[in-house]
Amino acid sequence: MKVVAILGGQWGDEGKGKIIDLLSDRFDVVARYHGGHNAGHTVKFGDRHFALHLLPAGAVRGRIGVIGAGVVVDPDALLAEIAGVREQGIEIGDNLLLSDRAQVILPWHRLLDAARESAAGDGKIGTTLRGIGPSYESAAARKGVRVAELYRPATLRARVEALAAETGALLRALGCADIPETSAVLDALGRSAEALKPHVRDTGRYLRDHLRGGGTLLAEGAHGAMLDLSAGTYPFVTSSTCTSAGVAAGLHISPRALDGSLVVLKAYTTRVGSGPFPTELKDATGEFLRARGNEYGTSTGRPRRTGWFDAVVARTAVELSGAAAVAITKLDVLDDLAEIPVCVGYRLDGHELRDVPPLVEDLDRVEPVYETVPGWRTKTTAATRTEDLPPAAHRYVRYLEERIGAPAVFLSTGPRREETVWRMESEFLRALPGA
Ligand code: IMP
Repeated sequence: MKVVAILGGQWGDEGKGKIIDLLSDRFDVVARYHGGHNAGHTVKFGDRHFALHLLPAGAVRGRIGVIGAGVVVDPDALLAEIAGVREQGIEIGDNLLLSDRAQVILPWHRLLDAARESAAGDGKIGTTLRGIGPSYESAAARKGVRVAELYRPATLRARVEALAAETGALLRALGCADIPETSAVLDALGRSAEALKPHVRDTGRYLRDHLRGGGTLLAEGAHGAMLDLSAGTYPFVTSSTCTSAGVAAGLHISPRALDGSLVVLKAYTTRVGSGPFPTELKDATGEFLRARGNEYGTSTGRPRRTGWFDAVVARTAVELSGAAAVAITKLDVLDDLAEIPVCVGYRLDGHELRDVPPLVEDLDRVEPVYETVPGWRTKTTAATRTEDLPPAAHRYVRYLEERIGAPAVFLSTGPRREETVWRMESEFLRALPGA
């Protein structure tokens, strides 16, 4: 396998950052293909800790990092992240490439995100308020600004003025008072464009040439399948394609280039923001999972909602991305539990559902059908070998594998890179570059 995608299989925060980091030194290039700085990837190695939002993990691991055309980029956020990583002694230079076709998040997008959320009251999506949705809207409406335009002052001015006129009217209608001056925004864009210039190029051409020359590529998914704009729990979703279907479109490579996908799943479920969550635990057990799993957002610090593993969601994610393997993270968080319920289906108005229903008002009402698996009540923290896991933990993993239809090739037993069981007997791991 030369081109592999790592994807989230729940509502984000599955621990993709760690799995991507584990694999990134096997690949020449690590690329982000969708989303923006709403994503948060925590990468820990040795005594170092990085909270990445836009930078592909490969960029801090001595590989080439690509931010593809499908990403929405807030120039200031990207520059701040580069500065932060440099402060930690990581060199960011020729190893970071930014697509000239990526969409730029402008201040009006951020304001619109916030104005809409506050106008929605209780019906709010609970977005990260980073302007992600409005920026993708501008792109789809063909009103967006792309990175290449930052270097064409006349074109940039015309497009920014048109966008400011339209979104300004909308912002005023939503009661937003502090609408920025176009000239101030253009000045700021000019400064950040200069700083980003060394990184900007046609990354689609770069990647196609790289792959034609036999190079390897790890596509870094953000968010999770249930936040996918089309397949997720709409409208409580993000505005991009979070399955492997987005890889080719977001990187400008052929869909035939992708050789394999791995879906990352937490051993239980979490969600931030609003929206239905059938297996949510609003009791002491939910609080226990939040505290034990340190379930607070990497991007926003918000407490995450917690609940049992939902095999309907996980199986759907595996199917949507055609995943040949999964990683199960945070297994150690379940160490103290006597028994562990797993949701294997839903019941709605007396009917059994095999799949996530299309309407959130139905998903809100479903009753999860649980099967209960015995816990292990033994410490698995930091286990690195399959044989070090208690038999009941094995059984839990095997049970999940059967329910979701894919083998678990990584079991994560702690936040550090070292705290991982690599199931080297798996075909998927043996087919990776450098295996
Ligand atoms: P947006 O992406 O900021 O528009 O937010 C839309 C929804 O996606 C909200 O429920 C967010 O909490 C959620 N979301 C976006 N990015 C992430 C992520 O990386 N992890 C978890 N949830 C996310």
